Amino acid sequence: MAERSFEVMMPNEGMPRIAEAIERRLPLIRLWREPDPEQAIRDFAPRVRAIASVFHSGKIDEAYLARFPKLEIVASFGVGYEHIDANAAAKRGVVVTHTPGVLDDEVADLALALTLAAVRRLPQAERFLREGRWASGEFPLSASLRGRTLGVLGLGRIGKAIAARARAFGLDVVYHGRKPQAHAPYLYYPTLVGMAKASDILIVAAPGGEGTRKLVDADVLAALGPEGVLVNVARGSIVDEAALVAALASGGILAAALDVFENEPCAPPELLALDNVVLTPHIGSGSYVTRNAMADLVVANLFSWADGKGPLTPVPETPWPNASSSSRQGEEED
Ligand code: 8YV
Repeated sequence: MAERSFEVMMPNEGMPRIAEAIERRLPLIRLWREPDPEQAIRDFAPRVRAIASVFHSGKIDEAYLARFPKLEIVASFGVGYEHIDANAAAKRGVVVTHTPGVLDDEVADLALALTLAAVRRLPQAERFLREGRWASGEFPLSASLRGRTLGVLGLGRIGKAIAARARAFGLDVVYHGRKPQAHAPYLYYPTLVGMAKASDILIVAAPGGEGTRKLVDADVLAALGPEGVLVNVARGSIVDEAALVAALASGGILAAALDVFENEPCAPPELLALDNVVLTPHIGSGSYVTRNAMADLVVANLFSWADGKGPLTPVPETPWPNASSSSRQGEEED
């Protein structure tokens, strides 16, 4: 059992399961319930040793970390952690954990569902039926997955789960990332434009943050071409949304399917106005079973740390000798 002096702070309310589980073992400060959260940080910061962060907690940067002199660990909900300055945490000796592995299949399922929805125009076909238009004529024929090549941007854990599914659908799979992966059974393209030229469908599965900002730009969309389909299940920041709207509106690409946006929780009206795009509200990992597994992994990281056993799934910037190998596997090319 962990010592009672190990105080955990949660800045924002995540799944109730997280706070409930933490509180069964450790003292927990629910910051969002405090009448004056700023004052509460000033009061509690000298004692806080762990922060449990849900994705929309806001930035955890150098200045924020500096307010917690006893901080040892930030356990974050979600595989993406670009809201945390992990290098600043590393410099302060603070470990950061995330929730890799447990959501790969869920997100990959959605990527394929969105691909089919965009290519076969499923939402449009459903609207057609609901609006009573079937009696007046058949729904127009659509594009197809037959004989198509899928380019995966970011062959990490999720990218690999997408590639495996795509193969089962009969697609050829190629990929682009920072470097080729020795054991990946797919053709590597050293440039994104090169891969887009060779692909009919481009699925974005790379991490967010500065390194990938607006990577999918007008040139990449032009290379994908008028029959091309863009699917994004990663981060809105990776795609230049203005360039995408222009390409969709002008027939520069055929269609897009997006689960993520630059300014969540909003999708730009220019996209909403287009018929050749399928939009979902960041639901990639959003099933009961997967979100529960992510929540449990946040708590397991905290408890493991509080018990002196180290983190279970640290981010690569704050490695730990005892971390399970699954937390590092596939990280290099997410
Ligand atoms: C999060 C995600 O669950 O894991 C990630 O990086 O984007 C999602 O799975 C979601 O952002 C939680 O708010």
